[in-house]
Amino acid sequence: MRLASRIVTTAPASRPLIVLFGGQSAEHDVSCVTAKHVLDAVRRDTHTIVPIGISRDGQWSKATWSSDVDALEPSGEPVDPFALLRETAESGGAVLPLLHGPFGEDGTVQGLCELAGVPYVGAGVLGSALAMDKIAAKHALDAHGLDQAAWRGLHVDEITAGTAATLLADLGSPVFVKPANMGSSVGVTRATDEVSLAKALDVAAQYDEWLVVEEAIVGREIEISVLGNRDVRTSLPGEIVAGAEFYTYEDKYVDGKAELLIPAPLTDDQIADMQRLAVAAYSALRVEGLARADFFFTADGRWLVNELNTMPGFTPISMYPKMWAASGLDYPDLIDELIALAHDRHTRARRNTTRT
Ligand SMILES: Nc1ncnc2c1ncn2[C@@H]1O[C@H](COP(=O)(O)OP(=O)(O)O)[C@@H](O)[C@H]1O
Ligand SMILES: [Mg+2]
Repeated sequence: MRLASRIVTTAPASRPLIVLFGGQSAEHDVSCVTAKHVLDAVRRDTHTIVPIGISRDGQWSKATWSSDVDALEPSGEPVDPFALLRETAESGGAVLPLLHGPFGEDGTVQGLCELAGVPYVGAGVLGSALAMDKIAAKHALDAHGLDQAAWRGLHVDEITAGTAATLLADLGSPVFVKPANMGSSVGVTRATDEVSLAKALDVAAQYDEWLVVEEAIVGREIEISVLGNRDVRTSLPGEIVAGAEFYTYEDKYVDGKAELLIPAPLTDDQIADMQRLAVAAYSALRVEGLARADFFFTADGRWLVNELNTMPGFTPISMYPKMWAASGLDYPDLIDELIALAHDRHTRARRNTTRT
C-alpha cells in the first residue's frame, strides 16, 4: 500500500466577499431574504463578509447582519459603489451579487464589476443580459436548435386594436404573456381570449416595454441546476407541481402551495436528455457560474426550454441549492465553489485580455 503523501496546508487568508442584495427590481424583497440565508451559511474562516444593501432607488449602503432576522435590511452607512468595488479588487476579494431581475441579474451590475476589475459570482455581462431578456434568449435558443414554446416578441408601441386577435390566431389559446425583462412570475398572466389577452398585455407592460406572448404548454415543469465556467456540471432535476393554475409569485413566495419533487420522477434516459439540453442552453446563452435551467416536459416526451435564471432563488429551500444538495453538494460548499468559479473566470479573462 502506498502512503498518501502529507500535504501541508496553511489556512487560506480571509478575503473580502461583498454580498450584494436588495436592488431596484420588483424582486427586491426576495433578494433580501436570500441574503439573510447566504450570510447565515457562508464560511467566515475564508471570507470576510461585507453585506451591501441596494435600496429600491439604487443607493448602496453597508448593511448589518444578524441571524435572528427573516430578511436583511438594505440600509446603513452609504457607500460609493465603484470605490468599494475597486478596493475589493485591490484586496483580492470578490462580489456575490444576490440580485434578481433588472439592474442586478441583467448584466448591469456585472458591467460595473468588470469596470472595477473585481471578480464576481455568476454569468458575465453578455450571459446575464441574454438570459434576462426573454426575447434575446429565445432568439439565441432558436439559433442553437433548442425547442421552445411557439412565441412572439413585441414592443408596446406595436400594440393595436387587432393585436390580441392576431396573436391568438397565430399561437392558439390559451397563451402566456410576460414582460421580456422580469422574473419570479411578476407580470406573467395566462390569457384565454381577446379581452383577457389585451389585459394581460397591459399588465406585462407595467414592467417592460418589450413583451413576450407564448403558446401555453401542457406539460410537467422540470428544473435543473447547472454549475461551472468552461467545465459544466448538472445536478439531478427537480419537478414543480404548481399549487395554482401556474407557478405564480404567490406560489413561489407567499402561500407556497407548490410541491417540489427532488429528484423529479424521470427515467435515467430522460434525465440524461435533460442534462444534455440544459448544458446546450447554458452554452447558447453564454452563461458562466451558475444557472437554473427550466423546462417543460410534455406527455409525448418533448423537452421545451422555458428559461434560464442566472441568479436563481438561493435560499436553502430554493430549487437551485436543493437540487445540488440532492446531488451531493451542500449549501456552504456550493457557495464556496461559486466564489472559486468567480476567481477562476476573472483570472482567465485577465490572461486573455491584451491591454496596451
Ligand atoms: N408557455 C407556457 N406554458 C405553460 N406555462 C407557462 C408558460 N410560460 C410560463 N408558464 C408558467 O408561468 C410561470 C412563470 O413563467 P416564466 O417564464 O418562468 O417567468 P419568470 O421569469 O417570471 O419565472 C412558469 O413557471 C409556468 O408555471
Ligand atoms: Mg420562471
